[in-house]
Amino acid sequence: MRIFVTGAGGQIGSDLIMALRERGHDVHGSDLAPRPSRLPEDVPWHRLDVTDAVAVAGLLEQLRPQRVYHLAAILSARGEQIPQTTYAVNQTGTYNVLEACRLHGIPQLIFTSTIAVFGPGLPESVPDDVPLRPTTMYGVTKVAGELLGEYYQRRFGLDFRGVRFPGLISASLPGGGTSDYALFMYTDGVRVGAYEAFCRADTRIPLMYMPDGIRALMDLADAPKADLRRCIYNIAAFSPTASEIAASVATAIPGVRITFASDPARQAILDSWPRALDDRNAQQDWGWKPTFDLAAMTADLVPRVRELLARTPDALSGH
Ligand code: SER
Repeated sequence: MRIFVTGAGGQIGSDLIMALRERGHDVHGSDLAPRPSRLPEDVPWHRLDVTDAVAVAGLLEQLRPQRVYHLAAILSARGEQIPQTTYAVNQTGTYNVLEACRLHGIPQLIFTSTIAVFGPGLPESVPDDVPLRPTTMYGVTKVAGELLGEYYQRRFGLDFRGVRFPGLISASLPGGGTSDYALFMYTDGVRVGAYEAFCRADTRIPLMYMPDGIRALMDLADAPKADLRRCIYNIAAFSPTASEIAASVATAIPGVRITFASDPARQAILDSWPRALDDRNAQQDWGWKPTFDLAAMTADLVPRVRELLARTPDALSGH
């Protein structure tokens, strides 16, 4: 089927596009940025600003995909530096994509939501349905995106589905997430043998290795609609403390020096997020199950980061 991806130049896009192509789909990527060098040149690529409603509707009218993955967003930490732009990209952008789907009869929209929809005062393991009280602009716009999508499903029959991702970890730079300390332990650990994390050592949030995240996005989209009792699902993999991640990284990078210097702004965001997610609805409705725990991720990821840096020394620097 033809699939269109917004924000495809970001942390998730390249991996998602490659996986969808392996399943035989005709995938078109779009972003403000050019096609990432990791992607083959025959991946069709469109320059698109999701805040431009006319451009979004025009491109979807022209391409008429059967499915849209809407990934375009500014993440939580960057979002607090530029909340107005974050509102435009995340909130207006999502509205523009929903409207374009309605106008041109695009049947299915897959949305990437996040642990950042939650706020302070959570139970130890957080189920799907608790009051959503985010403290960041990113979280506020993702809550609104979830609700808007559900509205479009009820009102206009759009098949709207999404996952609430934990912090995602892979050998690619995310650009401005608050969960990035986990990823930087690996990338800077390989690159320079050291990393000073911007959180306390006892910080604990849900995390996930990217291959599991990509599979979730494909499996949820392919699940029979009749099996889905809701639009948006928590999904979980593992929830280590920051010091447990550091210890795991040290098993694969002997001598790595990981230290902690908590940054108050980002720490406050981390402390407002769940420590663990309850994803039983996703398990029951569409068979969600992660394959990587922390140790398996470390064993898989460190050699990948090494290979990437051997080929492209600058690939993971500059955060
Ligand atoms: N990884 C994201 C962030 O840190 C959470 O969805 O903003």
